[in-house]
Amino acid sequence: MNDRFPITLDMFDPDDIYDSSILESFPREEASIELFDENCMFLAGLIKRSRPRTLLEVGVSAGGSSALMLHVLEKLGFESELVSVDLQDRWFHNPKYPTGWAAKKLHPDKKNWRLYTGKFLPEIIEDLNLEFDFCFLDTAHAVPGEILDYLVVLPFMREGGVVALHDTALYFFNDHSLQGFCHPASS
Ligand SMILES: C[S@@+](CC[C@H](N)C(=O)[O-])C[C@H]1O[C@@H](n2cnc3c(N)ncnc32)[C@H](O)[C@@H]1O
Repeated sequence: MNDRFPITLDMFDPDDIYDSSILESFPREEASIELFDENCMFLAGLIKRSRPRTLLEVGVSAGGSSALMLHVLEKLGFESELVSVDLQDRWFHNPKYPTGWAAKKLHPDKKNWRLYTGKFLPEIIEDLNLEFDFCFLDTAHAVPGEILDYLVVLPFMREGGVVALHDTALYFFNDHSLQGFCHPASS
């Protein structure tokens, strides 16, 4: 076990870490969230358990996971700050909308949320001048995407901080999978 990050998976009882109550109050359709219910429960449970004061999210899209985290913090009565970063200024599903549009709509006056778009994490992380207790990486969906940002964020994590990664192996399961590259479809 790493002393700097003294949490391992076997310390988690799923019933303890998953917060299923979040599904009753979080408006997942309006948030256009790109996470399954289980992922939402997991994130909510992790935040509830780790009580972070400063959160970083990389990979925003419409802002579904930003909205979820802001919702969880609000429910818990935490005034924690969330910083969200996305490479794209415009929503990659429909460039008519800005990145983060859904979270802005659901949380229009959030003073504890900062959104940076059009930037890679390494371009801005030093200037943020923050240490994070919690980090959620949900970007490239292909290795080494999230892993590289994981390395970038490590020096900026507070002792005992939690880093959650989403879909690091999604490319195995869709049409753009590496399998497609390795085994071109026969004509
Ligand atoms: C799957 S979506 C994020 C979904 C969002 N977290 C949610 O749960 O609703 C991935 C996002 O990551 C962004 N992205 C991809 N690579 C990135 C990188 N290296 N740095 C920052 N953002 C990146 C894309 O522009 C896209 O908006």
